[in-house]
Amino acid sequence: MSVAAERLQLPLTRPNVLDLAPLYEVLRREAPIAPVTTPAGDPAWLVTRYDEVKQLLGDKRLGRSHPEPERASRITTAAVQDGPTGNYETEEADHKRMRRLLTPAFSAKRMRMLSGHVQELVDGYLDQLDAERATAPGGVVDLHTGLAFPLPVAVICRLLGVPESDREHFHALSERMASPGEGNEAHEARAEFSRYMVGLAEAKRREPGEDVISDLVRAQSEDETYDYDEMIRLCVGLLFAGHETTVNRIGLGVLFLMKHREQWEKLTADPDGRVDATVEEIMRLGAPGDLGLLRYAHTDLDVAGVTIRTGDAVILSINSANRDEGAYADAESFDPDRAERSHLGFGHGAHFCIGASLARTELRVVFKTLAQRTPGLRLAKDMDELPVRPTITGGVAELPVTW
Ligand code: HEM
Repeated sequence: MSVAAERLQLPLTRPNVLDLAPLYEVLRREAPIAPVTTPAGDPAWLVTRYDEVKQLLGDKRLGRSHPEPERASRITTAAVQDGPTGNYETEEADHKRMRRLLTPAFSAKRMRMLSGHVQELVDGYLDQLDAERATAPGGVVDLHTGLAFPLPVAVICRLLGVPESDREHFHALSERMASPGEGNEAHEARAEFSRYMVGLAEAKRREPGEDVISDLVRAQSEDETYDYDEMIRLCVGLLFAGHETTVNRIGLGVLFLMKHREQWEKLTADPDGRVDATVEEIMRLGAPGDLGLLRYAHTDLDVAGVTIRTGDAVILSINSANRDEGAYADAESFDPDRAERSHLGFGHGAHFCIGASLARTELRVVFKTLAQRTPGLRLAKDMDELPVRPTITGGVAELPVTW
């Protein structure tokens, strides 16, 4: 297949994170910065090699917002992982402010506090699954609905400061917001969520804690220009950025380990010693799939023999970069012992994942605890039969297992 000369039509349906690997392999070899047409019909550049993806993620001449928001939103719907679309001119200032407001939430102290809570949650979900397994036909239970899906949102609740008694309600509200259906319903879901968050902020104002909403309320009393809308936007941003991404890494991690049974056996033999490297390898090979991270050129620039023009959309595939043979020996194999430990699974540069330490904590606790408590874990369905989640970050909708 030669892709260098013509504009490549990208797949119309959202692919599984694993399905694009053969296409990426050809692109890296033949057209590492390829002119493509997104599923929404927009022209864009797709960047697939590690060196260029990393270089462009660190390049300030590319930004997340577009001078013409109308065009930008069409591309955003095209299976490209995008952040909040902001105003072109104020992007940098807004972004710095967002990082400054959220940074205390991810301090080492908060992470230590959260890690005990993550362990309690994982133990609780596994107790529940163990009980279900005793009566389930064939002893089969669903690790997706029983662990992978509820864990990240429960952790975000604790991070934000949502009381335990409100967790179910909060979860239902955020679910409705994420898949709101038709017009009015979307508006209602958003309004209800906002009312809940304002009530919570008022409670934190009276009685602050070690959580994001208390941080934001404190910042608000020091900064007149900061309002509840901004607080709600930041919290929704955390929910969207931190939920699906983590759910899907747990699911993909289980699939990788079941497919490469020898790596699972090694992990169960030494969970403490091997879990960190195993999680990094899951993050490398299971990096958010689909097409990639979206940027727009703020100025003309030449990269690897290609001229990208001002306003052009650029899709940076971290999934492809992470499986680049030029950067990793035997790149497609799942090998936690590989020498190259760094990867772009949490991005790079100014937008590097602010929740990376939290996500790592969750993944480490999940895989260590599974290895300790369920060494006989196995999939109860063929891997190819598992339904794929229709989300922008790639993962499975069901994970039937037994042990
Ligand atoms: C940014 C991946 C978990 C919050 C990012 C980016 C990636 C990423 C690739 C960069 C986006 C870009 O450059 O456009 C992941 C993965 C996760 C995960 C794979 C799970 C394994 C989390 C969690 C949170 C979080 C748990 C918070 C609760 C954020 C935020 C940003 C971000 C706020 C935007 C940072 C910025 O624009 O400066 N994440 N993330 N993420 N992530 Fe994560």
